[in-house]
Amino acid sequence: MGKDVIIACDFPDGRQTLAFLDRFTGHKPFVKIGMELFYAEGPQIVRQIKERGHRIFLDLKLHDIPNTVKKAMRVLSRLDVDICNLHAAGTAAMMRAALEGLTRPDGTRPLLIAVTMLTSTDQAAMENELLIRVPMAEAVAHYAKNARAAGLDGIVCSPLEAAGVHAACGADFLTVTPGIRFATDDAGDQKRVMTPAAAREAGSDYIVVGRPITAAADPAAAYETCLEQFIG
Ligand code: C5P
Repeated sequence: MGKDVIIACDFPDGRQTLAFLDRFTGHKPFVKIGMELFYAEGPQIVRQIKERGHRIFLDLKLHDIPNTVKKAMRVLSRLDVDICNLHAAGTAAMMRAALEGLTRPDGTRPLLIAVTMLTSTDQAAMENELLIRVPMAEAVAHYAKNARAAGLDGIVCSPLEAAGVHAACGADFLTVTPGIRFATDDAGDQKRVMTPAAAREAGSDYIVVGRPITAAADPAAAYETCLEQFIG
């Protein structure tokens, strides 16, 4: 898969999500379905969006004992999504079990990526609450290397970390990066943001864009601008 823009469909229910997607009359965007929508509507919303021809990143961030994650991934593998994820903090045993569960009887599977350190966790919280006493960039690169060694396809990280992750794990290890804003946007609650063009320069493979598209007066036009800036 090449570079692409993934729209974070952070809506509270299926009705609003489908009404939003109805506004894209041309190219069908790659969409991210997160916990809020999935817990509200269940697997049916994933099937409905898939039937409309969208590629899907199912962002459920699994983190549990290996056997539980393996069984949960087996269920998710039947949904025919394109990308699934989990927390690298679950350790290599959990990541390997997840891959096993996700692999369908015919050998195919969605891409599997790992959340390294949540961008809401800062250096102080990581040190004082998680007792991880190394610089954030080192922790992220280490988690990325663990994910790569376990056989995963990539990680979720800040675009600021994408180059470091590629240096540590190789150019083909995917970096999926939220925290994107147009130069004219308000950053909102995101602390460290980059424009689509800067994320391209930084080496992001996929950018995850929410409010700059979902809250735009013309979401389809904002999406096209984003594609143009990120892919060219
Ligand atoms: O609206 P905005 O562009 O900030 O949305 C970014 C999306 O990426 C949201 O769905 C958010 O939950 C997600 N995300 C993030 N930072 C992470 C992981 C996921 O912003 N580290």
